[in-house]
Amino acid sequence: MCGIVGYAGTAGSVETGLPSRAVRVVLEGLRRLEYRGYDSAGLAVLAGKRVHVRKKAGRLANLSALVETEPLPAAAVGIGHTRWATHGAPTDANAHPHLADDDRLAVIHNGIIENYAPLRNRLAMGGHEFLSETDSEVAAALLADNYRSLVGNRTGGDTLAAAMRRTCAELEGSFTILAVHADHPGLIVAARRDSPLVVGLGDGENFLGSDVSGFVDFTRRAVELGQDQVVSLTADDVTITDFRGVPVAGRDFAVDWEAAAATKDGHASFMAKEIHEQPEAVRRTLGGRLGADGAVSLGDLGVTDEVLAGIRKIVIVACGTASYAGQIAKYAIERWCRIPVEVDLAHEFRYRSPLVDGRTLVVAISQSGETMDTLMAVRYAREQGAPVLAICNTVGATIPRESDGVLYTHAGPEVAVASTKAFLTQVTAGLLLALHLAQLRGTGDPTEISAAARELAGMPAKIQTVLAGEARIEALAASMTDATAVLFIGRHVGHPVAMEGALKLKELAYIHAEGFASGELKHGPIALIEAGQAVIVIVPSLTGSPVLHAKMMSTIQEIKARGGRVIALADEGDAATGGWADTVLTIPASAPLLAPLLTAVPLQLFAAALAGAKGLDIDQPRNLAKSVTVE
Ligand code: F6R
Repeated sequence: MCGIVGYAGTAGSVETGLPSRAVRVVLEGLRRLEYRGYDSAGLAVLAGKRVHVRKKAGRLANLSALVETEPLPAAAVGIGHTRWATHGAPTDANAHPHLADDDRLAVIHNGIIENYAPLRNRLAMGGHEFLSETDSEVAAALLADNYRSLVGNRTGGDTLAAAMRRTCAELEGSFTILAVHADHPGLIVAARRDSPLVVGLGDGENFLGSDVSGFVDFTRRAVELGQDQVVSLTADDVTITDFRGVPVAGRDFAVDWEAAAATKDGHASFMAKEIHEQPEAVRRTLGGRLGADGAVSLGDLGVTDEVLAGIRKIVIVACGTASYAGQIAKYAIERWCRIPVEVDLAHEFRYRSPLVDGRTLVVAISQSGETMDTLMAVRYAREQGAPVLAICNTVGATIPRESDGVLYTHAGPEVAVASTKAFLTQVTAGLLLALHLAQLRGTGDPTEISAAARELAGMPAKIQTVLAGEARIEALAASMTDATAVLFIGRHVGHPVAMEGALKLKELAYIHAEGFASGELKHGPIALIEAGQAVIVIVPSLTGSPVLHAKMMSTIQEIKARGGRVIALADEGDAATGGWADTVLTIPASAPLLAPLLTAVPLQLFAAALAGAKGLDIDQPRNLAKSVTVE
């Protein structure tokens, strides 16, 4: 979490009354990176042999307003930070940058410094007066200490980089750190361990960003920094070393980014836009992978067919929404491929001594490809000798880079914090993987499998039909702004969909919501049902799963008998559900394993509409960040 930007170029002037290019580039980069955290924002520029800082709690807009009322001098170098709070509340004092070395050094940090407490004690005893509660200020103070002791021994341009290397050797945890010092006008020194940082190469100017969106408006040429590397950046030079000071070459790449991804394209929010992009996003995931005859071809996956043919177990690791996509894949893989599948929350996986070996395929699902919990699970699995396949949206992100193979979802950039098109495309990729494994290993009922493959190709059109029902869902949401709790229940693949629906409502509308398997209702949660309690029921298909459908009809009656209000998602033509539920939202009929591609959509629309009706920020809900890069 946290977004980081750096700029080294030329100062220009501020005579026009406009901020200098450094300030504009940093603020624009922060705007693009605000999805990574929005508890506070700050920037520092180097000008007139001094460090100038502006920082403010709250959204980036607060910082922009501050920069307008307290303009910064023309500067050639700037660094900026948008924070997702870990250590210390979201206050002005805890906002980055943090200063040290008599306010001549400014530091911004993303990650968590795990040994900050002993370091803080040591530095406080040495005379450093801490002004914030953050672990990040400890990095600033330590860097200042190391810088001072090196300056005593030597001169030369690389003192700040040498101090950074020494500092990194003492830090435990994950970090991206950027530093500027008044002694070194024109220079930014940055380091990374287990936390992202990329360099953007311009003409007479260079950039740093947590990801390419930090500088995509200014250059499309980028260099990827590896693990445990330090970069020194000026307007016309980029020097990279490892933590011992040995020069290393970065990997150049061209930034492939749709400019349109930065606009809402006429929608009220990025989330609304991304919900409506889902038919196209799913089409892209399927693109070229599904033949007209239903044959699935996943191209060069990076994990060979020979390995896939020999696996005995699959473990899916993921977090949040991505883990629900994994649970849907489990149903498909177990039915069609007859391979046992476990789904682990990535942060639980490596701490439970899981049984994985060379014949266990570990599938890591991640939209961002940077989720630290999932990355750590990937590393653990590979250490155990398991082949790892990533299902990822972000091309070139750390998780696919560190996996043996990758199945990209090609959903396109997802800007809203709450996942929507990423989820549907992860489900699609999971279904493709299941179909591929079944066809490769000759398992499952061939008629069912080829019918499912052919039907999958038609799902984008059915998703479009569900989207056409948006107005009804908006009206339903508008009638529920006073709800304090909403329950979601489902069976089979409807269970993970119920959990996803509840997660969307919690994170967007701040309403307590719980999603569970409807069979569990009578084992405890039914105690929650009282007059008027809203229960959203994902009804299994009447034709595809008649047995489960019948059981769900009983569950609906049990809820109604206790005064609950049933809002059902059911297949078109399901008259039985219509006879019992208070409200029925219909979806086109589909094979049961494909149904989540449809049932998830009204739940996304419902959560977004309810949050909108309550006047909440749909794209940036409180306390959250898009990319969770701390464990
Ligand atoms: C919820 C949401 C999160 C993410 C989770 C994993 O709407 O977006 O639950 O799904 O943080 O993120 P990725 O997929 O980037 O690993």
